[in-house]
Amino acid sequence: MLEVANVSKKFGGLVAVDGVDFEIDRGEIVGLIGPNGAGKTTLFNTITGVLDPEEGSEITFNGEDLLTLDTHEIARSGVLRTFQIVRVFGEMTVLENAAAGALFGTDASVSQENAQRRGREALAFVGLEDKADMEARNLPIAQQKQLELARTVASDPDLVLLDEIASGLTPGEIEALSNTIRRLRDDRDISVFWIEHIMDAIMGTADRIIVLKSGRKIAEGTPEAIRNNEAVTEAYLGADNS
Ligand SMILES: Nc1ncnc2c1ncn2[C@@H]1O[C@H](COP(=O)(O)OP(=O)(O)OP(=O)(O)O)[C@@H](O)[C@H]1O
Ligand SMILES: [Mg+2]
Repeated sequence: MLEVANVSKKFGGLVAVDGVDFEIDRGEIVGLIGPNGAGKTTLFNTITGVLDPEEGSEITFNGEDLLTLDTHEIARSGVLRTFQIVRVFGEMTVLENAAAGALFGTDASVSQENAQRRGREALAFVGLEDKADMEARNLPIAQQKQLELARTVASDPDLVLLDEIASGLTPGEIEALSNTIRRLRDDRDISVFWIEHIMDAIMGTADRIIVLKSGRKIAEGTPEAIRNNEAVTEAYLGADNS
């Protein structure tokens, strides 16, 4: 579904993403982990058209070259995302935020009425239906992240990119979110690419994990294999005997 080949992104002299290759298949939940500053969010920004990667990078989705598309066209093609630093439309209601996802999603001809209906349904999917009429800025940050998830669901995406969506949640809420993410895949046929620092959440939910360090992919495998990978442990602990 998503093919990423030789993707790099520099900021001046800093190579934030350095020749990264991987694929995501339909129906997969793939985790992306790595220490702070590893290049995870930058990688999401290159996939979603927020940043242009270096010459020689290749990113295709269902065979379409994403590097020739603008951000809104990438959303229309079925790749939707949430943000590490939340970006809801603060002065719009929770329902209007979700409906906006439908209006700018994969169905370009959706009516206002159907967008509202899809928005409501997406709010119910993440458990925010009671908050529909609130101004989005009045939600706690953790719920604004759930609203961003609802906004992607309302877009009827094929692939969602989630950037630290579990941060700020209680253990009980993380469990509920992990179930929601499994339902994305199982009930909606939405594939998931999920950046997370909360290891129990990502390890317990993802089929496969990709690990970045200093812009490079240092490991890829099942959660079990990644847990036991020495290079990964070193990347996090920064010492041999720790
Ligand atoms: N717009 C930018 N301009 C300059 N440097 C940037 C920019 N965005 C990111 N960087 C740098 O690129 C590197 C990778 O940052 P990035 O945000 O992708 O890391 P990350 O893996 O998402 O980290 P975190 O887990 O802390 O969110 C960091 O050194 C960061 O300071
Ligand atoms: Mg980040």
